[in-house]
Amino acid sequence: MTRYRRYFPIPWRCSKMCIFLIGSFCFLGIYLFFIPMTFNYFAVLAKIKVKENAVLSLMERFAYPVKGYNKPETAKENISVRSNVSSFRQYLLNRKVGGRTVNVAPFASELNDTQPFRFVINERDKCNEKTPFLILLIATKAVEKQHREAIRKTWGNESVIPGIKVVRLFMLGVNNKEQNEALLRESSQYHDIIQQDFLDTYKNLTLKTLMGLKWVATYCGVANFVMKTDTDVFVNTEYLIQRLLKPLMPPSQYYFTGYLVRNAQPHRNNDSKWYVPKEVYSAEHYPDFCSGTGYVFSGNLAAKIVNASLKVKYIYLEDIYVAHCLDQEGIDMVPPPYNYLFNIYKVPFSPCTYNRLITSHGIYPNEQITYWETLQNNKHMCGQ
Ligand SMILES: *[C@@H]1O[C@H](CO)[C@@H](O)[C@H](O)[C@H]1NC(C)=O
Ligand SMILES: *[C@@H]1O[C@H](CO)[C@@H](O)[C@H](O)[C@H]1NC(C)=O
Ligand SMILES: *[C@@H]1O[C@H](CO)[C@@H](O)[C@H](O)[C@H]1NC(C)=O
Ligand SMILES: *[C@@H]1O[C@H](CO)[C@@H](O)[C@H](O)[C@H]1NC(C)=O
Ligand SMILES: *[C@@H]1O[C@H](CO)[C@@H](O)[C@H](O)[C@H]1NC(C)=O
Ligand SMILES: *[C@@H]1O[C@H](CO)[C@@H](O)[C@H](O)[C@H]1NC(C)=O
Ligand SMILES: *[C@@H]1O[C@H](CO)[C@@H](O)[C@H](O)[C@H]1NC(C)=O
Repeated sequence: MTRYRRYFPIPWRCSKMCIFLIGSFCFLGIYLFFIPMTFNYFAVLAKIKVKENAVLSLMERFAYPVKGYNKPETAKENISVRSNVSSFRQYLLNRKVGGRTVNVAPFASELNDTQPFRFVINERDKCNEKTPFLILLIATKAVEKQHREAIRKTWGNESVIPGIKVVRLFMLGVNNKEQNEALLRESSQYHDIIQQDFLDTYKNLTLKTLMGLKWVATYCGVANFVMKTDTDVFVNTEYLIQRLLKPLMPPSQYYFTGYLVRNAQPHRNNDSKWYVPKEVYSAEHYPDFCSGTGYVFSGNLAAKIVNASLKVKYIYLEDIYVAHCLDQEGIDMVPPPYNYLFNIYKVPFSPCTYNRLITSHGIYPNEQITYWETLQNNKHMCGQ
């Protein structure tokens, strides 16, 4: 005993008490810190219970969009078990902490979020006078005004090729009032914005793409081709139209191409931006899909994909979601006719390289402008 005394200037019995108290506080602190995880833990427990109830196969059918989706109308009890799990999840999602709703991601993608949203800003008449050859659907956020300005002046110019009608539409969800008012002004100036009343977040990107597809299906199903792309992508619209799409005229039944990714696996590491837990997506591989940085398809596919979306489970990775919809309709994607037309990384700029590609990714607004202008001024020097 006496040996310990050296380390504790206060009486030994008291220090034992202190250690106990400090230990208790630490434990309490750690416990409070981990409460959200405890909730998740219960969610997982609930799930395991459900599995024990021998409805595993049904759960998995829901967890993965399959062709025989219309089958499980039977067993009502089974479905009610599922809905109890999801209402618990809903509870987790809407749980208020300190008055603020916290979203315990990544369960958000479990929700069936593809119900119709309403257009806040629309362009119904873009298609009226003349059938568009190409519709550019560009996913963007309110803050990216510079990006939009650059695209309007460069590859998104609707009169990029004389005699060919191109329609440019920026796709947005809603954020706050100020941004919406600014968007309304921008829209009345350029008439190239469509917006629906879903929250504009990364996990809602699929809703954004679906909005664009619904727009095409509703107002412009006759368009020959559609391209979906992003604001940080350089698109050589001239090559796209003249060299890829025009030779396809009249369009074959269905056409869908882009940077084709085969045998990709879901990111199971929860640090990843593209993290998808097993509960949300159980299969080991994604279907073949075309990278969302830029894919091109025949206009008649828009309605097909929208139709399929009523039956396909929501996943926030929009390109994979679209691939599931195509799969559901039994439609194959095709690789582009040459390699390196669609690039998901940033191709180092040179006029003669950019003269022979369709997409390059990771481009800033000022680069859009310099690349485009340099290309216009120098493309005649490049051999075909
Ligand atoms: C639940 O579904 C499974 C398979 O889908 C079925 O075998 C089982 O009988 C169902 N349970 C109830 C209670 O209906
Ligand atoms: C699910 O909830 C409903 C009503 O909310 C209840 O009637 C049903 O028994 C619950 N099912 C299970 C398996 O707990
Ligand atoms: C779009 O291209 C046309 C034809 O080259 C040009 O006259 C027009 O100024 C361009 N528009 C913008 C916004 O740059
Ligand atoms: C997606 O949008 C809906 C509708 O506005 C919103 O309720 C939901 O929270 C959004 N989801 C995510 C993950 O941001
Ligand atoms: C992330 O994954 C690691 C290991 O798989 C796990 O220990 C950790 O709890 C997870 N974090 C969250 C927030 O789910
Ligand atoms: C969409 O689905 C409806 C009903 O299932 C069907 O009548 C319609 O032909 C479908 N449209 C397309 C383009 O497949
Ligand atoms: C999503 O909701 C719609 C409308 O309520 C419903 O028709 C559809 O079957 C649901 N899809 C899934 C995968 O739950």
